[in-house]
Formats: sequence, structure tokens, C-alpha cells
Amino acid sequence: MSLQAISDNDFAAISQLFYAESGIRLGINKRSLVCGRLAPRLKALQLDSYGAYLQFITARGNELERQLTVDLLTTNETYFFREQQHFDLLKDLLQQGWPGHVPQIWSAACSSGEEPYSIAMTLAEHLGDKPWQVDASDLSNRMLSTAEQGLYPLSRAREVPSALLRKYCLKGLGQFDGYLLVEPGLRQRLSLHTHNLMEPVTRKKKYDLIFLRNVLIYFDAASKKTIINHLLQALQPGGLLFVGHSESLNGITDALVPLRPAVYRLAEV
Ligand SMILES: C[S@@+](CC[C@H](N)C(=O)[O-])C[C@H]1O[C@@H](n2cnc3c(N)ncnc32)[C@H](O)[C@@H]1O
Repeated sequence: MSLQAISDNDFAAISQLFYAESGIRLGINKRSLVCGRLAPRLKALQLDSYGAYLQFITARGNELERQLTVDLLTTNETYFFREQQHFDLLKDLLQQGWPGHVPQIWSAACSSGEEPYSIAMTLAEHLGDKPWQVDASDLSNRMLSTAEQGLYPLSRAREVPSALLRKYCLKGLGQFDGYLLVEPGLRQRLSLHTHNLMEPVTRKKKYDLIFLRNVLIYFDAASKKTIINHLLQALQPGGLLFVGHSESLNGITDALVPLRPAVYRLAEV
């Protein structure tokens, strides 16, 4: 069965559906990316047109398939200890300590978990057995399942310092050759949940650090403002927001002051 080319209307409908679910706009220049990511799913469902696929995913009772469409269209690229400068700063902050409590940290677009596990390894080195945890969330349940499993190709771990690799990761053997498994004690330190950044934060917790890295880049200015306003409600006065080094909050908010590249601080009241 050969797949028909996507029509303008079907592309617009898929793009609209994705925008409604994620807040991310897919312009017409993303047409081949959309088809490249969805075509294998159409094939698996034995559908020969995007029109039929749209009918299928919007039918009542097919919410899981719709979630899968969103999953397939999000960009999930990540790896351990990405943007090392943030982890150097985290180490410095841990050495100074937070008066009276362990730091509350949220990885708010955690993808498949490499970011929160990198945070967790850094915390484990400094806080040991203290009662700390790292909150981690993403829109994609598929990514959160990978994070929960903690099984990764070794190629994602090139930046993990070898001492941490030995201490916190188990080397895969047999069918898992070429993989690492995050050791169970560290896996238990992650608290994973689904969260859409476009929605208000409902949990009452206030964070000392929020990692929001390499995700704002996908949103337009209006959606960036919405996301930042939501996260401001969850950030402790004096708390820090980390964004990706190719991202900026210029023109998005005055409440956060740049501290160093890709790090912003919420003014104390
Ligand atoms: C490129 S990854 C970044 C992962 C990690 N923060 C890093 O820097 O390596 C972007 C992640 O943002 C998530 N994402 C996209 N839109 C989102 C939304 N509206 N709410 C929550 N997460 C979202 C995607 O599912 C994806 O896992």
C-alpha cells in the first residue's frame, strides 16, 4: 500500500491539533518533518492517507493514539550532562548549601530522563543519604516511561564523568550490551509526572531551581510568556531558572534577571 502525499488541509489540521495539545506551532516548513515522523505510524496502522489518519486519531475513544501523535511530533533530543556549565553551577551551589533545607529542583521538560538523572547524580554526590528528590515532568508519556525505566544507549552517556558512571550506572550485558541502566537507588530519587507547560502549575511546591532547557525554542513569543508566567508561580524568590544556551528570555519577562549565560534569577521580595 503506498502512502498518499499529505494535502495542505490535512497538514493544517495536524498542525492545529499539535498546537492545541502542546502550544507549539508547526509552520509549513515542517511539512517533511511531520511526514517523516508520522509515516511509519500510518504504515503500522495500514492507513494510506493522512486524511484517514486524522479521522482515526480524532475519533472518540482514540485519545491514546492522539497522545502518540503528539509524542511523535515532539523533539526529544537529550543526553546526560548536556550543557556542562549548568552542572558546574549546580555543584558550586550545593557546596554553598541552601539554608535549612535540601534544594527543591524540577526538570520541567525532562524528555527521556537524562537531564534529571544528571541532576540526581550531582545531588547524590553532595547530599548522599539526605531526603532529597528531583521532580521531573514532560508532555510525552512515552518519554516519561523511558525515564522511569532508566535504560539508555551508552552513546547518550559520553559526558558522564567516569567516576559517576561507575557509581550510578550498571553496564548492560548480553542482550543489553551497549546500554546502561541507572542504578535503582538513583531511579527512586526521581519523581516523574506528566505536565504540559502550557497549563498552570497546580502543585503548591516552590522550587529553588527549575531546569527548562531546550524547549522554549519551539514556542512562539506569546506561548513562551504563558509558560514563563506559569513557572514563575512555582519558583522560590531568589530561585534560579536554567534555559538552554541557545535560548533567551529577552522581551519575555522582567521578573527574571540574567545571572549568567542561560541562568535567570527571580528577584527576592
Ligand atoms: C529537546 S527536549 C529537551 C530535553 C532536556 N531538557 C534537555 O535539555 O536535554 C524537549 C522536551 O520538551 C517536551 N515538550 C514539548 N512541548 C511541551 C509542553 N507543552 N509541555 C511539556 N513538555 C513539552 C518534549 O516532549 C521534549 O521531551
